[in-house]
Amino acid sequence: MNAVLDYLKSNHETFLNQLCDYLSFPSISAQPDHKPDMKKCADWAVAHCLSIGLKTRLCKTPGNPVILASTPRRKGKPHYVVYGHYDVQPPDPLDHWKSPPFKPLVENGNLYARGSSDNKGQHFAHLKAVEAYLKTGTELPVDITFIIEGEEEVGSENLVSFLKARQKELKCDGVVVSDNGIPGLKHPALTYSLRGIAALEVKLTGPARDLHSGLFGGSVDNPAMVLCQMLGSLRDKRGRVTIPGFYDDVVKLSAYERKQLKKLPFNETGYKKLLGVKELFGEKGFTAIEQRSARPTCEINGLTSGYQGAGSKTIVPSWASAKLTCRLVPNQDPNKIEKLVIRHLKKICPPTMRIEVEGGHKGEAYLMSPTGPQAQAGLNALTKAFGHGAVLLREGGSIPIVNDFKKILGVDTLLLGLSLPDDNAHSPNEKFNLTCFHKGMAMSAILWNELGQLK
Ligand code: BES
Ligand code: MN
Repeated sequence: MNAVLDYLKSNHETFLNQLCDYLSFPSISAQPDHKPDMKKCADWAVAHCLSIGLKTRLCKTPGNPVILASTPRRKGKPHYVVYGHYDVQPPDPLDHWKSPPFKPLVENGNLYARGSSDNKGQHFAHLKAVEAYLKTGTELPVDITFIIEGEEEVGSENLVSFLKARQKELKCDGVVVSDNGIPGLKHPALTYSLRGIAALEVKLTGPARDLHSGLFGGSVDNPAMVLCQMLGSLRDKRGRVTIPGFYDDVVKLSAYERKQLKKLPFNETGYKKLLGVKELFGEKGFTAIEQRSARPTCEINGLTSGYQGAGSKTIVPSWASAKLTCRLVPNQDPNKIEKLVIRHLKKICPPTMRIEVEGGHKGEAYLMSPTGPQAQAGLNALTKAFGHGAVLLREGGSIPIVNDFKKILGVDTLLLGLSLPDDNAHSPNEKFNLTCFHKGMAMSAILWNELGQLK
């Protein structure tokens, strides 16, 4: 074990340079123009896994390829899957970045680049830990297979059939994922719940073309105004979603859980400053931590209509559209929620508009017991590596594939996040804290030892 940890320590510089190479690919899965970059990035990851000594394959899918890389399989050894994703969110708005998103920059102990924490840096830490075992000739306590996909940020559409097709080869004792966060360096955390998601797009069409708002405005309805009114009505003043049936299947938080969540560090002033808001807003009767991790929401993610260029253009736009997502909690069915939202939007749409609503990607929330032996192994590894007692966390983000691991492989996922709240995931100036990187590598190395000792 010491040789492994020493190897990790003495190679910080090399690992950082390698991660910078990985981060220089604009592997943006949402944008078709970047298809060739997806392939180049995957090829780089394959070559890197091979250099570590992993048996590695680049597996074709109808979308972006998946990297499958494993340590030599031995009979009778526990087998764990580590999941990560090499695709990243679009970097826009580009002018908000202090350095170019795909030219990694190290500054004040942080590595700045799109994908640095979400998720290349986080799964790279696991790759390095396994490398440390292999390169120092230290016996790995467990067998490990990495699944690194290229479609997480767009809903992991092809990964489910990938898992089903390889169910036998991927049979394992558990999955490990670092694609989430911790409250701070002094509060390493095991995440035992994630929110689910249901994405939708709605489009209203009014006049057949953009009209002169002076000549016709006032006598025809305005799609942008109507859409704003419709969407505005989806939430009330108390922060409750108004769609009938939306909360029907939500399970109440137990008194015990609420008590646990209250133990997490939270500083309202610091939180407001971090997010740049004047005041917080959320569903009344719940703390901010509960609101962002254990209560469902319905949010507008994007809103488009009319003239967006310089100056003014006096029109009644022909159409207006919006992208929405609902975040869901355990026991809410994404398909049912999608139907409820579509039905409600159609119902409240006035006869002046044609409405189209389409459902998008979906995923159920995840909830596991935080008291089993694997969870304990995770907590031990976090505590040892970070030097602070690990806490239990519910997270507001979604990693829908985690439920498919449960359904298809029959195992739970240990969510051991390495990202900090100010890492700017999905925002400009995304970063990865280098201390998290270093502690993350150590955590992974220790984790295999802890998991290897379980019956
Ligand atoms: N890594 C995030 C999810 C995440 C972040 C979970 C922090 C918990 C804590 C992931 O890459 C992500 O952004 N997922 C999408 C899901 C999706 C289906 C596009 C999300 O949550 O918006
Ligand atoms: Mn991610």
